[in-house]
Amino acid sequence: MQSQNKKLRNAVITAVGMYAPEKVMDNKYFESIVDTNDEWIVSRTGIKERRKMENGATSDMAALACEDLFRTTNVKPEEIDVIIVATVTPDMFFPATACLVQDKIGAKNAWGFDLSAACSGFLFALQTGASLIEGGSYKKVLVVGSDKMSAITDYTDRNTCILFGDAASAVLLEPTTDLNYGIKDSMLFVDGAGKDALNMKAGGSALPSTEETIKNKLHYIYQDGKAVFKVAVKGMADISYEIMERNGLKSEDVSYLVPHQANLRIISATAQRMGVSEDKVMINIDKYGNTTAATIPLCLTEYYRAGKVKKGDNLILAAFGAGYTWGSIYLTWGFD
Ligand code: UT7
Repeated sequence: MQSQNKKLRNAVITAVGMYAPEKVMDNKYFESIVDTNDEWIVSRTGIKERRKMENGATSDMAALACEDLFRTTNVKPEEIDVIIVATVTPDMFFPATACLVQDKIGAKNAWGFDLSAACSGFLFALQTGASLIEGGSYKKVLVVGSDKMSAITDYTDRNTCILFGDAASAVLLEPTTDLNYGIKDSMLFVDGAGKDALNMKAGGSALPSTEETIKNKLHYIYQDGKAVFKVAVKGMADISYEIMERNGLKSEDVSYLVPHQANLRIISATAQRMGVSEDKVMINIDKYGNTTAATIPLCLTEYYRAGKVKKGDNLILAAFGAGYTWGSIYLTWGFD
């Protein structure tokens, strides 16, 4: 439920940054390693290519995205209060990837933590960061989505290997007392009953790593694509429509839908439900595939840098992912 208390400040995005590894894996490459073809991949998913981090881990990509962000702002790493890293591919179980990023970027006054919500991770992290700022105790929060999906992808499984890619992206949240800007509303949900449709089964406390788990390929992504597709279409379309409705937004008031990039068909269904035309939908799934927690900030960074996002633009962010997790955030862009 939306809080009835009058807010004193909003959290607003004041800088963005990204990192996509250089190595490109196009659909032709996948034709050479599994039984697939470019036509199937493009028509079913919208993906043409994705990236692979050959040397380095999730924290390296995250740190590079943060360094890219710092090149565009006067804010210095040592001014950061909190770092939240949304990821399902942490460098290791512990310490948290946020600790490794803190050290790599020299944010010596920050605390931080990882947040695990799969493809909805960035939205959950953005709302968490916004709450820390709205509470008044913190002034500079870095929210990072970073996933090295290639580390948990089975490149012999055509059902999943063509879908995922590696990337990282970051946003800086700061407070503003001008409530016309910033994060205005969020609707976030989980339904753990969806756990069997999309997961990585082994390596945790339920099924610690053994020769058997490795032999049975339980350290890779498992997805029942059809099952997830059905709930993702409904979940993302419904939530995006609902957040518009409860904020009194008509389709013409929405400057952009910023959807998680899992499947172009899910994105189109969401846009259709919102009554938003294709030119108002941020899309880069063709270039990067599904980068899990990184997709939404990657879109924000690329569209902003292309001069397509302006101060005052209303954005609806929406995602659906493993858990199940899903949600939507309504924000007004705060800088040119
Ligand atoms: O990001 C987090 C949430 N995840 C999602 O939102 C993903 C949701 N799911 C999807 O996007 C889609 O279900 C997929 C893209 C994963 C799959 O598309 P689909 O249209 O649902 O295909 P399908 O799984 O129903 O498979 C249709 C056929 C099957 O063959 P048969 O059984 O009909 O003979 C598959 O074996 O396509 C086959 N197939 C492939 N063929 C060529 C599956 N993968 C491939 C492939 N190349 N890579």
